[in-house]
Amino acid sequence: MSVPVVAVTRQIPSPGIAPLQQAGFEVRYRDVDAACPTAELAELVGPAAGLFCLLSERVDAALLDAAPNLRIVANMAVGFDNIDVPACTERGVMVTNTPDVLTDATADLTWALLLAVARRIGEGERLVRAGGWSGWRPGELLGTSLGGKTLGIFGMGKIGSAVARRAVGFEMDVIYHNRRVVPGSSAAYVSFADLLARSDVLVLNAPSTAETRQVIDAAALGAMKHTALLVNTARGPLVDEAALVDALRSGVIAGAGLDVYEAEPAVHPGLRELDNVVLLPHLGSATHEARAAMVQLACDNLVAVLNGELPLSSVTSLR
Ligand code: GLV
Repeated sequence: MSVPVVAVTRQIPSPGIAPLQQAGFEVRYRDVDAACPTAELAELVGPAAGLFCLLSERVDAALLDAAPNLRIVANMAVGFDNIDVPACTERGVMVTNTPDVLTDATADLTWALLLAVARRIGEGERLVRAGGWSGWRPGELLGTSLGGKTLGIFGMGKIGSAVARRAVGFEMDVIYHNRRVVPGSSAAYVSFADLLARSDVLVLNAPSTAETRQVIDAAALGAMKHTALLVNTARGPLVDEAALVDALRSGVIAGAGLDVYEAEPAVHPGLRELDNVVLLPHLGSATHEARAAMVQLACDNLVAVLNGELPLSSVTSLR
């Protein structure tokens, strides 16, 4: 029997490709720490039965057509907006992602960003680094307290719920808007309009879909409090970045923390000029522990499916 070929699109952290080699697969490993260009991707994946990919690679109909033996696309991410799932399903290709193992890391990072915006950590750090700090001043870089304020969560899935749990320690009231009410949540379900109007801090934790595209546009920003802060650790397309720049410039909202961007790695130039925004390079799940668990889970999904078993975490169910 021939050995299944697995293509890995770019360099991945420990445990790396070891689980795939231990499973006896032939691994085509593109051991390069950069996104795989489209033309190279088709060549790499061509003979593969399994694809280990990341959010930096687009898996579309053209790529699938170049890989007729493909049985599984294992995305090393919880989000899978980089994959044309219907095109995979039409061709009988299973799609898997890596939920759960990154929930806490991403919720922690959301709070890091939230606190950085609320307490002006970026501005303070830049001041000290630039040698511009002249000593303690009672009115210097005053931020906003969180206790007693309202945290709004858009998207109450696993990560949104983990963000809500952490709010208890900060004594914030939590409200949320979601496609459906989440049973057992201690946070209060509100309409989208109420979420915008009542949140002192609005955190986005929803997936990127046609429905959530630019859900935060000029009108939504205009419906928020002038003192409100926006934090996005989900996906860039949820926010109209140009409208956000205008809103931050003109004081429509007070500040923002972004880990994700509309057209990564490009960042709207207007954002870089603003002091009331904290910008991170998509670090949501970036801990040693979470990334190792994501690699392992993506590999486990590949091993299961290529051995004729069910994956641990699938996006699609194939008959
Ligand atoms: C990262 O953004 C992920 O979706 O896992």
